[in-house]
Amino acid sequence: MFVEVAKIDEVASGGMKAVVVAGKEIVLCNYDGRIYAIGRRCGHMNAPLEMGTLDGYILTCPMHHSQFDITTGEALSKPVPRDFGNEPFPESLDNYFQYLDTLMSDIKTYDLETFPVKIEGDSVMVDVK
Ligand code: FES
Repeated sequence: MFVEVAKIDEVASGGMKAVVVAGKEIVLCNYDGRIYAIGRRCGHMNAPLEMGTLDGYILTCPMHHSQFDITTGEALSKPVPRDFGNEPFPESLDNYFQYLDTLMSDIKTYDLETFPVKIEGDSVMVDVK
């Protein structure tokens, strides 16, 4: 069942907008003038994806930089390992980061749910199933 979730001018070209409808958290993405709807939470550790970046059809998570295809929901890449350059850290902090890296290496990055979208007049309609 399609329901109105936003007005078309609320999702700028190349932009994103988070909405909640029927209890589902969704991000609307405007790629090349077409609106796509995907699950809002990252398939890695649930970061809010509208705070990431949208470059064409690729959405990059703001937390660990996994990337997703907004047209299919497919996870294109895993989290990017931390890189603080050559800046030395205190040993205790470095040990903590190594511990986090170990924990993160065992967390899978899942594909995102996608939702059908249609435009009716100036309304963005999403089928939340
Ligand atoms: S929460 Fe998105 S990549 Fe980790």
